[in-house]
Amino acid sequence: MKTYRDIAGDGGSNVLGQVEARQSAVRGALSGVGHLVAVGSGKGGVGKSTVTLALARALCSLAGPSGGPLRVAILDADLNGPCQARMAGLEGAPLVPLDGAGRLAMPRRPDGIGVVSLGSVLPGGDPLTFETVSTGEEQTWRATRELALLLQLLGAVEWGELDVLLVDLPPGAERTVQFADLFAPLVASPDRLGFVMVTLPSDVSRGVVARSLAALAARAGRGGTLLGYVENMAGYFCRDCGEVRPLFPEPTTVLDTPCLGRLPFDPALAELCDRGWPAGGEAEAESEAFRAAGETAEAIAKLLELGEGPGFRVQGSGTRSRDEEAVR
Ligand SMILES: Nc1ncnc2c1ncn2[C@@H]1O[C@H](COP(=O)(O)OP(=O)(O)O)[C@@H](O)[C@H]1O
Ligand SMILES: [Mg+2]
Repeated sequence: MKTYRDIAGDGGSNVLGQVEARQSAVRGALSGVGHLVAVGSGKGGVGKSTVTLALARALCSLAGPSGGPLRVAILDADLNGPCQARMAGLEGAPLVPLDGAGRLAMPRRPDGIGVVSLGSVLPGGDPLTFETVSTGEEQTWRATRELALLLQLLGAVEWGELDVLLVDLPPGAERTVQFADLFAPLVASPDRLGFVMVTLPSDVSRGVVARSLAALAARAGRGGTLLGYVENMAGYFCRDCGEVRPLFPEPTTVLDTPCLGRLPFDPALAELCDRGWPAGGEAEAESEAFRAAGETAEAIAKLLELGEGPGFRVQGSGTRSRDEEAVR
């Protein structure tokens, strides 16, 4: 297949120039972002969005290289099923223009976590639609329009200085690769783009994640690092007995990348997500899943070498050593 660079004669559209101008604008907008970490899976409903928000909460309680807390934001890249605005309690906080140049202020939670999600601009229940020049042909353009919209958002938002920008990916094994290719030219260097895959401890889920891993491995050399996977719903946390009970039969599918952490299904976490997760509070403090998210965040911060600051908490997290799987 031809790439943009192979196009000879573009009918005067200067398509290559347009793509490069857009990429360079986005690179500029992201210049204050230390690491872009995409949270994907391939599988839907495994808790990508929940894990993303839990990691954001946990990361911002860690001390960063400058000594202050890590600065974190979330980009909800699931344009068709955006839920970060709702989960983060920012449904009524739209992206506000900062100036006449089209720059947008990032809605922020009281804990400082910025959240950019179409859920804060699309009324609840409304689907994302695009104008079309040819009725009935929308599907031909849809994927392209979605990626263009995402690039537009990335380029327009005033991200400021961030240690980590977490990107909540939509489902689809092939989409994980699509996003890897989309993001790779936008970061300052290839090691600034990381991938964390979320799976359930079931063979069905691991099977799909294994496809995503294979697809990422097949694009080796094109930028980005697979940091590992997070096992979500690793048992059910019973609040009555205080124990984690099995939810799925022991899976046999092996994922060839380090496990960064295991979060049990915790009804308190499901409630936090449904109600708009507040910062701190009893529900969070008592959540077994959030405790596990804290260990996972520490493992990720360590891999990103963000743990240099004084007061960085690193407890024994039971995670495997950095046997990093490079997808570059
Ligand atoms: N560890 C967990 N404990 C409790 N509820 C969870 C957990 N992980 C996910 N959920 C709930 O499961 C549902 C699906 O999770 P979500 O994060 O939206 O999945 P995905 O983004 O992969 O489609 C949500 O309602 C969420 O609150
Ligand atoms: Mg999601």
